Amino acid sequence: MTEPQHGDRRHSPGPSLYPIGFAAGVACILVGLIINPMVIVPIGVVIAVVCGFLWARDATKEFRGEPVAAIEPERGGPRESTDAPAIPPDRGEAAMPEPDPGERFPRNRFLEGATLGFGAVIGGLVTVPAVGFMIVPAFKGQGYPKVDLGPLDNFTPGQWFVTKFFMHPEAGEVSHRTAYIRNNGQLNGKPSFTIISNRCAHLGCPVQPNGPVQDNQKKDINLPKGQRITMIPAIPAGGYGCPCHGGQYDVEGNRVSGPPVRALDRYDFAIVDGHLILGTPYSVSHVKGEGKDALIYKYKLTGPGEHVDGWEQILYPLQPPH
Ligand code: FES
Repeated sequence: MTEPQHGDRRHSPGPSLYPIGFAAGVACILVGLIINPMVIVPIGVVIAVVCGFLWARDATKEFRGEPVAAIEPERGGPRESTDAPAIPPDRGEAAMPEPDPGERFPRNRFLEGATLGFGAVIGGLVTVPAVGFMIVPAFKGQGYPKVDLGPLDNFTPGQWFVTKFFMHPEAGEVSHRTAYIRNNGQLNGKPSFTIISNRCAHLGCPVQPNGPVQDNQKKDINLPKGQRITMIPAIPAGGYGCPCHGGQYDVEGNRVSGPPVRALDRYDFAIVDGHLILGTPYSVSHVKGEGKDALIYKYKLTGPGEHVDGWEQILYPLQPPH
């Protein structure tokens, strides 16, 4: 029996399907995060973990002393004459020197390990932040802050106001939002407000009141923590219109015509110490009635262009947690 010669040694793992399985598992996780985090993500995790484990086990066979399948040299092409035997790779001028048998970790093994390790570190540095930024925000529960819109007395009963405010005053103009607010008077002894978002339910353009906006009566209110509320009386007698694609809504925000698929979103509200506090936004399929008597068909906040009821809603992916 002859000992394997230096030139016969294989340092790279043989062909394997485990990396493909691992990549498929990761892809499954990413797709699952969008489509169905509760079902598809666990399946992807199982595939990635199993294939990753088998891949690592396969790749470290040689280091663990397990026998490695020998790879046959390529065949084909014109055959050399068998009269002159080929020079073995460990002979002749180009042959590598024999490793020192007493050397536990030959230099080529060290270089191979260092290259793989270095590649893994670089890959991790590039991949982990990108994946983190992609996935973490969906689970961070960013929520919506409570926004103080000022004293109730500023909202004349029955009057609509174009109301501008900062969702996050510390973030400045990027957090500027607009809502159409009407004080509906008292309902069962409590103040009633209609607060409609100006985000079009088609693709999110800012809808405008179909009626006069009384800019000359504009009022700016400065509140603590950098909050500034701008209130402009308006008479949206014709409802609201979207300048982007012509979507039209009635005064309660119901879709009347055009491409929007549902009514305008609304905000919850609370009254705290005589101030109107803006709460969480929500989506609305439609509204029956008006003002404080309105019956609102309310749903969890959904992206523009998405149905919230009817069979069409199943065409859209589940919303990530928010
Ligand atoms: S974004 Fe409003 S109609 Fe298209």
